[in-house]
Amino acid sequence: MDGDFAFHDLAPGQENFRDAVIAGLDGNPRSLPCKFFYDARGSELFEEICDTPEYYLTRTELAILDEFADAIAAEIGPHARLVELGSGASRKVRLLLQALKQPAAYVPVDISREHLREAAGLLAADFPDLPVIAVCADYTRPFRLPPMPGPTGKRVGFFPGSTIGNFEPEAVVRFLRNCAELLGPGGEMLIGADLKKESELLDAAYNDRAGKNAAFNLNMLERINRELSGDLDIDQFEHLAFYNEDERRMELYIRSLADQTATIAGRSFRFERGERIHTENSYKYPQDEFCRLAGRAGFSPVHSWTDKNELFCVYYFRQG
Ligand code: TRP
Repeated sequence: MDGDFAFHDLAPGQENFRDAVIAGLDGNPRSLPCKFFYDARGSELFEEICDTPEYYLTRTELAILDEFADAIAAEIGPHARLVELGSGASRKVRLLLQALKQPAAYVPVDISREHLREAAGLLAADFPDLPVIAVCADYTRPFRLPPMPGPTGKRVGFFPGSTIGNFEPEAVVRFLRNCAELLGPGGEMLIGADLKKESELLDAAYNDRAGKNAAFNLNMLERINRELSGDLDIDQFEHLAFYNEDERRMELYIRSLADQTATIAGRSFRFERGERIHTENSYKYPQDEFCRLAGRAGFSPVHSWTDKNELFCVYYFRQG
């Protein structure tokens, strides 16, 4: 049974997949925008990546939230309004909600309307005393929060999953400035981000033996074939992931295994053997460097929690 929740539809514009793919493949260097990884099949494959022994990120973040839920809840205090940006299935937030003292509201924000509706209903059923106010919006663009219950209690933004690592550093600063604007004066942020570490662990995480990372990356091409009447020969492309030490980031590409041509949405594209199409960067910040970026957006670190191997970090920031 679904619980009661409020739903605010800010009608986010859906970026056009066709235009984005053509612009990306016309670019030099070529790229495909990472936000299009997550169609139904892509979301399924990402879950499978999270279950591989090599991909430590998701399970380490969950373990940190689980172990330190009480300490995090103490930092947040009672009657908080918790705003999650890109809430997806609202899985990680449950660990927090269980620990928070009388939270005044949970506000999941997501661009994916039906998933948001479903996740909000399930969560509201499990937390019957908690006001759930779902907001369908594109959190990468400025938007406003609906009125929230309670005159007291902090507004706290929650941004887990190291999604922030997929932004360019300058975009991190812009994003956090937007968060400050959204939450208003006194608003605080709880952010999960991957840490810098030896390249062996990173290379393994993004090149798992079962090939889930490869399947996920190449699903972008499958999606192009499915949705844009493409005829890309998927077997003639491969997944490429490596750590760039200088930039402190994983770089993810699709590489052509042959000289070949393909038709996409009625347009013909030529690919050379060895040519790369960039699909994503995933930055791995040392703690002090991440805090410096947050500082440029007006946030200072209050506390951070890591696992014993210091693979992943959950940061708590306040303004000022
Ligand atoms: N956002 C994820 C990350 O940075 C996405 C990801 C995991 C990914 N594995 C991948 C993207 C393989 C492309 C290819 O960890």
